[in-house]
Amino acid sequence: MNLPSKVKIVEVGPRDGLQNEKQPVPAEIKIALVHRLQDAGLTEIEVTSFVSPKWVPQMGDAAQVMAGIQRKPGVRYSVLTPNLKGFEGAVASGADEIVVFGAASEAFSQKNINCSIDESIERFAPVVEAALAQGIAVRGAISCAVGCPIEGEVAPERVERVARLMKRLGVQHLGVADTIGVGTPRKVQRALEAVLKHFSIDQVAGHYHDTYGQAIGNTLASLELGVWQYDTSVAGLGGCPYAKGATGNVATEDVVFMLHGMGIGTGIDLDKLVDAGRFISDFLQRKPNSRAATAILNKRQA
Ligand code: HMG
Ligand code: MG
Repeated sequence: MNLPSKVKIVEVGPRDGLQNEKQPVPAEIKIALVHRLQDAGLTEIEVTSFVSPKWVPQMGDAAQVMAGIQRKPGVRYSVLTPNLKGFEGAVASGADEIVVFGAASEAFSQKNINCSIDESIERFAPVVEAALAQGIAVRGAISCAVGCPIEGEVAPERVERVARLMKRLGVQHLGVADTIGVGTPRKVQRALEAVLKHFSIDQVAGHYHDTYGQAIGNTLASLELGVWQYDTSVAGLGGCPYAKGATGNVATEDVVFMLHGMGIGTGIDLDKLVDAGRFISDFLQRKPNSRAATAILNKRQA
């Protein structure tokens, strides 16, 4: 086993997590969450999405949230941009990095961004080109890299095709997303290997939703391949509004607890991270969806 000695966490809770909340979360709460996350040592934060507010109302305050953040040097603030309109919003907000998000399944592409996979690539092309010209980093994400809520199992060949198209566009970094959390370790490894045909090990991240409780196992299986970057969500917030029943990403607290226990550094202060998770969970009036956070909070009370 050739495990990485350090891991970079991209905290996606403010975006992937909160996008799925039915009750409005005020911009001030989102901003306060980002502040807590950066204080806990997170250096990559996916803050929000410049998408249609008709599609995802919760992200309708993207500009306000970005404007309210007191930026910490060394932290990279990223946002989702499905098209040029979103990109314009991202630039105006001073985002450091944009994310174009496609899918390995046709049905999910239609459902999530209202176009086919090939059309999405055409839409992303001018976005990626403009971002690179302006020195803005470009990440991509492939949804349904293991399974699709409509089409079922997704073959690695389909993931490889989208990865190839994304690479050709100039996407610098690619997230392999198990949107509905049906992936199990070997299947996730096959999806990663498909992407690794076109992107180097330093350009690939795992993005695992924990719907079936597989995400921590999938993270370990990905570490075994040498993958050292992961998108995770504080307090396990979230889900995708276009994947019914899908739950949040693997909790950042759980991943950090595992990594630190394995002697793998993250630069994150787990106690402060747990506080950030409790802050947002208190607002949402629920318990953090993280076993590690729950254990740490119980221990503090004892
Ligand atoms: P569309 O309806 O085909 O777009 O939606 P359109 O270009 O025909 O425009 C329709 C209206 O939307 C127009 O307004 C546009 O101005 C407006 P109207 O004239 O009707 O008033 N519009 C926008 N407004 C604000 N920002 C924009 C924007 N674009 C158009 N950027 C579109 C296409 C892509 C816009 C829509 O489908 C959309 O916004 N989808 C977003 C879906 C989304 O955010 N999903 C969740 C994030 S992805 C995810 O969670 C997965 C991930 O975590 C990985 C994983 O786990 O799988 C990344
Ligand atoms: Mg996601």
